[in-house]
Formats: sequence, C-alpha cells, structure tokens
Amino acid sequence: MSPSRSELLKSYSPQDLFSCPEESQFYSQCLEKMVFNGGYDRVIEFGAGDGSPIISSLLKTRFSGVIHGYELNATACEVARNRIDDCQLAGQYKIHNQCFFAGYSEIAANCLIANPPYIPAPDNRIYLPALHGGIDGATLTNRLLALGCETAMLMISAYSNPVATIQRAVDQGYSVTNFMITPLQFGYYSSEPKVRDWITQLRQQNKAFYSANIYFLAGVLFQRKSSSLTDLSSELIKVITVL
Ligand SMILES: C[S@@+](CC[C@H](N)C(=O)[O-])C[C@H]1O[C@@H](n2cnc3c(N)ncnc32)[C@H](O)[C@@H]1O
Repeated sequence: MSPSRSELLKSYSPQDLFSCPEESQFYSQCLEKMVFNGGYDRVIEFGAGDGSPIISSLLKTRFSGVIHGYELNATACEVARNRIDDCQLAGQYKIHNQCFFAGYSEIAANCLIANPPYIPAPDNRIYLPALHGGIDGATLTNRLLALGCETAMLMISAYSNPVATIQRAVDQGYSVTNFMITPLQFGYYSSEPKVRDWITQLRQQNKAFYSANIYFLAGVLFQRKSSSLTDLSSELIKVITVL
C-alpha cells in the first residue's frame, strides 16, 4: 500500500518542497472563481507543487476538462500523484515530473495557470532554489506571459516588480480582465535575511510594495485583447502598489 500524503509530507521540510498553505489556498480560490468556472477545457500548469491547490478546486467545482501540471521537484510530484489517486482525479489532473518549458508545447492548452516562483534575490542560493524568480522576482512570470497563451491566470506578488510585469503584459496584447487580491504576511521563504534585504533594496527602486506587516498577492486573469473585454490593468496597478 502506498504511504498516505501526511506520511509522505511528515519527512519533508520546506527546504525540500514548497510549503505555504495560505498562499496555496488563495491560488486555489483564484482558480475556482476565475478558471474552473470559465469554460476552459485544456489547462496547463507551471509548477504543480504538491498538487493541493488544483485538487481542492477540482473537488469544489464542476470543471470537466483536463489539467497538465509540470513540476521539477520529484518529491512534490510523488505527493501530488498520491493525493490525486486518493481523490480519484487521475483522469483530470496529470502530473509531469519535467521542466514546464521542456514539455508544455506538446499540449494544446487554452489556459495557462501558475503560482510561479517569485522570490527576488541576486542569485538562487536561497532556502529553496526552485522558488527563485530572478533578480526582480518576475523573470519566470514574464517568461510565461511571453508564451502568448490565449488566457493566463498567474499569481503576482507586490514585492516582485509588479508594475513592469503588468505593463509588459498589456504591451504584449493582454488585458487584465479580472483579479483577486489578498494580504499575506512575509513567510518562511520571503523572510530569509538575504531575500528580505534584497526586497528592501527593490522597494527603494519602486519595484517592491509592502508594509511592515503585509504584502499583497494578486491572482490575475490575463486575456488576449479583444474589443469586448474591459482592461482592469490600471486598477490592478493602483491596488497592488498601494502600500
Ligand atoms: C510557488 S511554488 C507553487 C506550488 C503550487 N502550485 C502551490 O501553489 O502550492 C512554485 C513551484 O514551481 C516549481 N518549478 C520551478 N521551476 C519550474 C520549472 N521550470 N518547471 C516546472 N516546475 C517548476 C517549483 O519546484 C515549485 O514547486
């Protein structure tokens, strides 16, 4: 018999695989509201982690399509596959233990989703290197938007140069058609002294926005521009930079 999820997770620390339940839950809520009720049937996910956000939203919605999740971390994939089997969702959620950029083109998807690595740091020598989002935290997010998928629902952090990312998306032909935003406390990964010092420097360059207690994390729905879509990018920029 395969070990239960809690047995598997017991032996791993946050330095082995991503663990931030508040953030994963918010990602899941964004998926429920903006993706899984939106008529998409072929979804690709960058960075599935332990699979919990998707599994939780699939159990709460009537989404009937298929999601292909890519995840580099073999342990996270093992945990995800166990959970998916336990919940009898293997027909709907497929996990690929592979770099997203190596595999995504094989799937003709109409929606891209991700809670991407967004920790800003001068290099990837941080608690969990796979969470490094480049120097300003937005490198992978920008790379995902540059793929040009028809729709993308991405998590955007207020301390990872959000204004440049949103403006770049608009320049590439996207509208921000919906977003949800939540306050989060600095957690295990963003409180690492090297990371926190770097975020302080980004703030001085107007690339990071936060207060002493919180930062904002937004789930943002980007859709290719058409005349019928209202673009909320300027409203999003106002909200995410307010602190
Ligand atoms: C912030 S975590 C999000 C995990 C999960 N989606 C969640 O919200 O709980 C980002 C994940 O992306 C994975 N990742 C980083 N680079 C990747 C790549 N090139 N291809 C696939 N996964 C990657 C990391 O290992 C990590 O599990």
